Amino acid sequence: MPSPRVPSTLTAGAVLPVIELVAKAPQDADFTVVGVTGTAENPTLVGVPAAVEKAAPAKVGQIAVELGARPEAGKVTVLPRYASQLVAVGLGSDELSPEQVRRGCGAALREVAGRADERELHVALSLDTDESELVRAAIEGAVLGAYTYTKVGSQVKRPIARISVVTGLGGASAKQTLAEAQAVSRAVLVAREWINTPANLLYPQTFADEVRELAKGTKLDVEVLDEKQLAKEGYGGILAVGGGSERAPRLVRVEHKPRGAKNHLVLVGKGITFDTGGLNLKPADGMYTMKCDMSGAAAVLAATAAIAELGLDVWVTTYASMAENMPSGTSYRPSDVITMYGGTTVENVNSDAEGRIVMADALARSQADKPDLVVDVATLTGACMVALGNRIAGLMSSDDATADVLLDAAEAAGEEFWQLPVPEHIRKGLESKVADLKSSGSRMGGAMAAAAFLQHFVGEDTAWAHLDIAGPAFNDEGPYDYVPTGGTGHSVRTLVELARTLQD
Ligand code: BES
Ligand code: MN
Ligand code: ZN
Repeated sequence: MPSPRVPSTLTAGAVLPVIELVAKAPQDADFTVVGVTGTAENPTLVGVPAAVEKAAPAKVGQIAVELGARPEAGKVTVLPRYASQLVAVGLGSDELSPEQVRRGCGAALREVAGRADERELHVALSLDTDESELVRAAIEGAVLGAYTYTKVGSQVKRPIARISVVTGLGGASAKQTLAEAQAVSRAVLVAREWINTPANLLYPQTFADEVRELAKGTKLDVEVLDEKQLAKEGYGGILAVGGGSERAPRLVRVEHKPRGAKNHLVLVGKGITFDTGGLNLKPADGMYTMKCDMSGAAAVLAATAAIAELGLDVWVTTYASMAENMPSGTSYRPSDVITMYGGTTVENVNSDAEGRIVMADALARSQADKPDLVVDVATLTGACMVALGNRIAGLMSSDDATADVLLDAAEAAGEEFWQLPVPEHIRKGLESKVADLKSSGSRMGGAMAAAAFLQHFVGEDTAWAHLDIAGPAFNDEGPYDYVPTGGTGHSVRTLVELARTLQD
């Protein structure tokens, strides 16, 4: 397995703490996270280390309950320091699920990271669990919950330097669990770092450089098409959208091809490094967070890196369409007809519907790869946010069997999706008088219309799933569970899990 890569300057915050699995709670941890289950009337603490119990003046469970510890999911109660300072986190009243543990550890570590001063902390997770899924979830929750984006130009803060997970899990399965948790967590942090990087620093060229950097020392094959190569090969969509910016577009293609792997998964991500709306300029309020419009590209690229790091036995080809959507004298106009990669013509209705246009070029290109499954990920529509809110992503698919494969992977990974249909009448709404199709239809059902547009370029016979992450990609409210403010890295975990299930 290749060793963890040295991060680039833009992803310096994606360094993991040292993580170890230990049989006994360490004596010297600054904080020890324990769980609270049971009922609201009768809460019970799990995982309290013997040394803490011994040092406390009364039963720790009693003290904790008096201080307010309850099984309420994610409720964090910090106890006085006996041997180690306990942080009791509610894990719900039901049997522990991985997502419950992930959320609990996330909330606990967010609290602990917020209390860190100059010292780098050592945190123990003591939840009395030997199950590999729960151990993995505890690590992921802790790492993801401890993360915040560091101020541009300042030294990366690392509040938590070491995490010890107390568990009876040992041997090969412990090693594998740790490797998976680390690869997935690192990938989520890389995606978050890219998303959080302001668009004056992360633009198509520097984003493509980042991918090259990330792939160094791995077996990933990276190919970057610049604006000249894009023009030569007819990528009319990416060029039209990117044409308004001084910062030229790129198409990045990354391949993970293990010897003998047959199942071919194609991933496509939307990489709009900033979306002003173009000539259909967004109002100021709606534009402010639009550095997040490359979250789909970040997710597919970071997931591909984790898939390679874990050496998963599935052939993965990943595309990221990178462009900046700006208004200028060279912008594409509403009513322009664009000739896309592969020759399809598109009438541009609204230059703020840029995502589907850059995605369509990559999807059309990917047909030559003869994929068994295509999954695209994009912060595509405000309509999807209106339908499903900020925490649930939309899933649209060629068929229900494919949708179920994605939903199962998402469930195992602890990410939320909800399936929407792609009905025939919505497809009809994209008919154009001047081109093969238009880029958008009526305002109603906007998420489905965008999906229908994309599917035109995948072909109806290809198994395909479209993940609209406009809602959950970026958290512009306060942090919760293991989700910080800013880029969330949504879909990275689902994609890695998907690749795991597609192994030959
Ligand atoms: N990037 C936006 C969608 C978006 C909005 C993502 C808010 C995250 C938060 C996308 O390019 C867009 O502007 N879509 C338009 C499409 C419309 C013009 C057909 C929209 O949803 O309004
Ligand atoms: Mn837009
Ligand atoms: Zn956009």
